[in-house]
Amino acid sequence: MKNFVLILDFGSQFTHLIAKSVRFLKIKCEVVPYNISLQEVKKKSPAGIIFSGSPKSVLDKKAPICDKKVFDLGIPILGICYGMQLITYLLGGKVINGSKKEYGYVETEIIKDTELLSGLNSKDVIWMSHSDIVEKIPKGFESFAHTMSSPFVSMQNIDAKIYAVQFHPEVTHTEKGLKVFENFLFKICKIKSDWSTSWQTFIEKSIKSLKDKAGNKRVLLGLSGGVDSSVTAVLLHKAIGDRLIPIFVDTGLMRKNEVTEIIEAFEGYLKIKLYVVYAAEKFFHKLRGVIDPEEKRKIIGNLFIEIFEQEAQKFDDVEFLAQGTLYPDVIESSVSTKTSVTIKSHHNVGGLPEKMNLKVIEPLRELLKYEVRKIGKELKIPEKILNRHPFPGPGLAVRIIGEVTPEKVKLLQEIDAIFIDELIENNYYDKIWQAFAVLLPIQSVGVMGDNRTYENVCALRAVNSLDGMTADWSRIPYKILQKVSNRIINEVSGINRVVYDISSKPPSTIEWE
Ligand code: XMP
Repeated sequence: MKNFVLILDFGSQFTHLIAKSVRFLKIKCEVVPYNISLQEVKKKSPAGIIFSGSPKSVLDKKAPICDKKVFDLGIPILGICYGMQLITYLLGGKVINGSKKEYGYVETEIIKDTELLSGLNSKDVIWMSHSDIVEKIPKGFESFAHTMSSPFVSMQNIDAKIYAVQFHPEVTHTEKGLKVFENFLFKICKIKSDWSTSWQTFIEKSIKSLKDKAGNKRVLLGLSGGVDSSVTAVLLHKAIGDRLIPIFVDTGLMRKNEVTEIIEAFEGYLKIKLYVVYAAEKFFHKLRGVIDPEEKRKIIGNLFIEIFEQEAQKFDDVEFLAQGTLYPDVIESSVSTKTSVTIKSHHNVGGLPEKMNLKVIEPLRELLKYEVRKIGKELKIPEKILNRHPFPGPGLAVRIIGEVTPEKVKLLQEIDAIFIDELIENNYYDKIWQAFAVLLPIQSVGVMGDNRTYENVCALRAVNSLDGMTADWSRIPYKILQKVSNRIINEVSGINRVVYDISSKPPSTIEWE
């Protein structure tokens, strides 16, 4: 058996966090689809197998179910949430649709120390997300932990080496989640930490495989200047040199000085030629009079595609489109179903590959943002780009409520720059996931000197998040907020009131539109 772990993905939003926890313990792992063949599992010869959670119910007709013979391989198995319910279902226990759902923080009662839960204490807070519950555990299993609503919070069959937990040890909200992985991997699977994430090795392998894949063809890339597309660009440039065509569209909707900074970083410092398209006028023209957020997003997305397509036609031998897709993007799109509603149309180069008949290259597909930042650091990409907060494709257009005009963009750029400057100045920028300002379409009365003013209101938004899917508002110290507010009102003419957004996601979203 190899010193590595196989993670069977049943579709949970958190599967990548399981991989992250395993890698954090310096153990190699691979995420594979739940319906991997038994033959494949044997070939990979893992020392442990983890079943992820799932948005599905084992009681559904179309529930994702793995090959039951995996239990006979003698390889220790850990089921998480749906994983525990699946083990129960397949091995003769009973899962029911519970009358009380458990979402979020729950207190657990552990009545006996077990190998898997060793180090966890009764009343420790765990994080749950399920409505089905295990009502009867399979024969041969025992359980020593419960919550108010779940009679079985974990279960084990030591002889069969099968273990399971109903809660999510992979999310940071579970106080001692990592301990569960340590117990399973080190004590039960007897795996040793011998895998070090050598980013240099990852980079070398990635460059080689990009070279093999692209052959002598050209690869297009829509560069946004954000960390993901920048790291993708540098990796590809190292692999295929000038056969990479990074197209950078200046939509006129970027932050203050951003366009110049990106061009300087790439052309000056990284020596990668950018194909810059200055298209601000076109964007402003199309956005004239548009107020509806979805309409704005669609207009920007379509125009972006149109411009990108026009540029691409200037090159022969283009066969690929590179994208900076990360693991959470893969998960987010894989769990979205036809019945799910569109909260916001995300503007990226989606739709382009089919339209232009291009094959997709996604070198960062298996990585999380912090890993991409580490690789970026190895690739010597300037910190300013690597540590940049996420920025939406439609840019400041979705931060200007109401009609977007060049004047309003200019105003918002000034406000935003002060907010970001102060966060950096006070060593607070890196402590938050994303911070920005929003220009509101209302005026308020103020007094400056002895005069009455009637000017615009802006909102500041700052959130903490792991992956952008859920978020909480940042508790930025009042002192910093005070300084930001003073500076904005004093330095930006046209603003006389600053408010701070204290909504979490859900129910709000991060961007206002
Ligand atoms: P929301 O507003 O949906 O945003 O809570 C979640 C995260 O996604 C970013 N965002 C986008 N990113 N294209 C992108 O590439 C988009 O159209 C887009 N809209 C929102 C947002 O800034 C936050 O980090």
